[in-house]
Amino acid sequence: MSAVGEAGGAAAAIDLHVDVDTAEGRRVGLERALRAAIRGGRLAPGAPLPSTRGLAADLGFARGTVTAAYDQLVAEGFLITRRGAGTRVADMPGPAVPAAAHGGPETAPPRFDLRPGLPDVSAFPTAAWLRSTRRVLTTAAPLAVHGVGDPQGRLELRTALAEHLGRTRGVLTTPDRIVITSGFYQSIGLLAGVLAEAGVRVVGMEDPGHNVYRDVIRRAGPAVVPLPVDAEGARFERLADPALGAVVLTPAHQYPTGVPLRPGRRHRVCAWARASGALIVEDDYDGEFRYDRQPVGALQGMAPEHVAYCGSVSKTLGPGLRLAWLALPAHLVEPVVRAKHRADWHPRGWASWCWRIC
Ligand SMILES: Cc1ncc(COP(=O)(O)O)c(C=O)c1O
Repeated sequence: MSAVGEAGGAAAAIDLHVDVDTAEGRRVGLERALRAAIRGGRLAPGAPLPSTRGLAADLGFARGTVTAAYDQLVAEGFLITRRGAGTRVADMPGPAVPAAAHGGPETAPPRFDLRPGLPDVSAFPTAAWLRSTRRVLTTAAPLAVHGVGDPQGRLELRTALAEHLGRTRGVLTTPDRIVITSGFYQSIGLLAGVLAEAGVRVVGMEDPGHNVYRDVIRRAGPAVVPLPVDAEGARFERLADPALGAVVLTPAHQYPTGVPLRPGRRHRVCAWARASGALIVEDDYDGEFRYDRQPVGALQGMAPEHVAYCGSVSKTLGPGLRLAWLALPAHLVEPVVRAKHRADWHPRGWASWCWRIC
């Protein structure tokens, strides 16, 4: 017998799913089911249980049966009951975790985390974000905030991005060319799928580069060939290969070496894309950052119809937000929006709105 119980009054409705085997009687079956859920960790220490009345109603048992089962588990130490506070799971040692899962002896956390790619999320503008969230949630119509959105992304955000990217990165785009995604990870997956559908079989990627994105492209279909990196950025000997249908580059700061793509190579790769009809995917993951010089403008500004520009807040705000964008050549907008719609229907609503206001 299976039930989802909901009890505890309007202020605290409690859902509890239990499968009760009544072969040996209802009380015994309920006790076993609750014991198993607590031992297995499904009911955690401190978790509230439904009232006896509520659970009895959901299971179709007499209330006395549930009360007797709770009493038995209280006596065994699995549950605790306090007047006015209802019945809860007692603090018990958790289920045994295999030693290997602990990852060896504990070591002190490192003083500095120098792994590439992780921003200092302690600098997240929490106060501004909270203000924006409050403003969006209290001023916009509920349906606009919580309803189903445009698969391309909120127009307000796309409009703000078109202006922002033009001003800060030299990107030439308009709101109707922008698609909001849940990260570069999704952006490159969508693009790889669209390229594969269009018949692209070979994509070039910087080497060293990010293996995760290389695998995303491969899973979509195209083979990935390396573009070696030197002190001037990616090397382009492979552009002579007629099978090459796209290249993925990090021109502002090559990932992970940090070198910018030098002007001669920027011109060369744009000329190649114009002449061959191939696509440049520009991963501008940290283009907003400057270290010792003015930021290098986006490659997209040199060839807007041949570059799919990809931005993300993962470095400037934090990867947890899962908010990113594409500024696309006209012919890619429709297929990418279709792929995005197929992938997850529509982007997150109000979080992206907050970015605009923040
Ligand atoms: C090279 C590179 N591109 C893009 C990103 C951003 O990815 P996402 O927007 O999926 O977090 C990262 C993040 O680590 C990265 O290292």
